[in-house]
Amino acid sequence: MSKQALDRILQSQGFGTRKWCQRLIEDGDVCIAGEIITDTRACFETSDLQFAVYDEVWKFREHLYIALNKPADYECSRKPSHHPGVLSLLPEQFALRDVQPVGRLDHDTTGLLLMSDDGAFIHAQSSPKRHVPKIYVAATHEAVTPELVKHLLSGVKLNDEPAPLAAIVCEKLDEHTLKIVLEQGKYHQVKRMLAAAGNHCTALCRTEIGGLKLDALGLKEGEWCYLDDAQLALLKPAE
Ligand code: URA
Repeated sequence: MSKQALDRILQSQGFGTRKWCQRLIEDGDVCIAGEIITDTRACFETSDLQFAVYDEVWKFREHLYIALNKPADYECSRKPSHHPGVLSLLPEQFALRDVQPVGRLDHDTTGLLLMSDDGAFIHAQSSPKRHVPKIYVAATHEAVTPELVKHLLSGVKLNDEPAPLAAIVCEKLDEHTLKIVLEQGKYHQVKRMLAAAGNHCTALCRTEIGGLKLDALGLKEGEWCYLDDAQLALLKPAE
């Protein structure tokens, strides 16, 4: 339980500097329980707090845990250079909260991308020690052969990696489509593994992380949702 002044609450939720939040409040743009609050220092219990800014209702969230169905042609980098950044698909104030992608997908990769402003969560999810499987569906230029599947399962040597990297699951879905499950998240890993095994990835989608399935979230490309505790629990490594 924590009580905070309204200007601090708005600032923590990404609505701007403290000064800017004070102005919003004084101008009558902030409502709580249907009442316009103009006292910037009025204190509120933050757990379960709902507030409206410019008539849009928000729930107080200490941290943000978000799943995005990333479309192609968006960059995960903080300073996108050739395409818009994935942050542009989220409400503006999330950027001010320093929401970041958890790991990266290439600009042309689609599918499940986690985003958060919780540094400990981002760190834990990105740790190589954490064996959370990531499931990809890859389209291939050459037909998928039993040899390719075998090669990806037994491990392929990538230039800058000391040891071969192997898929933990690799299944042919159709003539030119492969399901591939990885526990690491190395740079361009799926594409480089396919190239090293003599094929070429023509499209890539991440469909699951741990037990969290993109399909179950019901997000169209470009849509996002908050993750609840049950969904976050699906991201934990198997015991
Ligand atoms: N592997 C890749 O090659 N690209 C991605 O975006 C994710 C995994």
